[in-house]
Amino acid sequence: MFDEIKFDRMERLPKYVFAEVNDLKMKERRAGADVIDFSMGNPDGDTPEHIREKLVESAQKTKTHGYSASKGIPKLLMAIAGWYKRKYDVDLDPQTQCVATMGSKEGYAHLAYAITNPGDVAIVPDPTYPIHSYAFILAGGNVVKFGIVFDEHYNIDEDKFFEDLENVFKNSSPKPKYVVVNFPHNPSTATVTPDFYVRLVAMAKKERFYVISDIAYGDITFDGYKTPSIMEVEGATDVAVESFTLSKSYNMAGWRVGFFVGNTKLIGALQKIKSWLDYGMFTPIQVAATVALNGDQQCVKDITDKYDHRQNVLIEAFDRAGWHIKRNKASMFVWAKVPPCVEHLGSLEFSKKLLVEAGVAVAPGIGFGEHGENYVRIALIENDKRIRQAAKNIKKFLAKFEDKA
Ligand SMILES: Cc1ncc(COP(=O)(O)O)c(C=O)c1O
Repeated sequence: MFDEIKFDRMERLPKYVFAEVNDLKMKERRAGADVIDFSMGNPDGDTPEHIREKLVESAQKTKTHGYSASKGIPKLLMAIAGWYKRKYDVDLDPQTQCVATMGSKEGYAHLAYAITNPGDVAIVPDPTYPIHSYAFILAGGNVVKFGIVFDEHYNIDEDKFFEDLENVFKNSSPKPKYVVVNFPHNPSTATVTPDFYVRLVAMAKKERFYVISDIAYGDITFDGYKTPSIMEVEGATDVAVESFTLSKSYNMAGWRVGFFVGNTKLIGALQKIKSWLDYGMFTPIQVAATVALNGDQQCVKDITDKYDHRQNVLIEAFDRAGWHIKRNKASMFVWAKVPPCVEHLGSLEFSKKLLVEAGVAVAPGIGFGEHGENYVRIALIENDKRIRQAAKNIKKFLAKFEDKA
């Protein structure tokens, strides 16, 4: 019915590649298969007890049940500023330079909605976490991409990055207004040095664009690596905002708490649009999020140690299965090249076959953009035993292809 009525914005969204693997996963499960699921960055651990307790305590208070503050309650905004001060020695004004969001994904969608004029150009390196580009596309903007290049230890080739970025600037019309960066990077896990942000801020000032930086995995780092923040660069708040989420560091993915900080013009736009669209997170969630940020950070270390350990288990077990992967320094993922004997399948077909024939679900790299092809992303959300079981299944699966070669 009403075939002539079209939804242009929906037409701009392609079929979600991950939905294809997800549907298949559900089908396999319905048929009774035990799928070992590495496909999503959804932490498997519990939210730490002191945070859960605060939620319950606050929910029992009847004064917390009304509409809340859409940009975040004052104590949460102060906790966000305090987190930056402790972690990065950066001073932020809680009221004008901080905003709480219902998960950072919501923040991306609404920030882009607030700041994108029709036809505005945003640069988003490829591959990417999909909302970084689709937030702008949904808002009526256009996205220009270039492939990120990193070495075998997942260090970004920073000279190449700036060379490519400058080339995009030379060749784009209209001139891009926004550049989105995300390090530690989802999906590739690639990282940058503090100098990267010094260069990026300098370039933003010269070329007159805003930077939107996502450090969702900022806490989850190994082997002494510390995630730099763009906010550490002098004058960064003139040109940049940065987002963080409680989903990963505190196992709070279902709670939907994130935040953005930095440039007052962009933060003001996000606060304003949110004031029109929502009444804020349920107050007890905001109170518990405040406790998470201000409280003992041992829980973050424990969560990080778990991913560190699982990465070792996975790399060792997959190595024995004939799938050789190098260790990374950050995030809850492993970004793995599709083994040579199955490369011809492409990442989507490989992921589907791996699911059906080995009972192992991974995220196909192509779902993150064309430069993700030939890779898959493996989330470290299954325990040691299941990681080892997955490796055994994979060994048998790969043997079929090796025999043919
Ligand atoms: C890079 C990155 N940014 C943001 C998010 C969104 O996190 P949330 O909406 O749970 O805060 C994710 C989730 O996986 C992510 O990987």
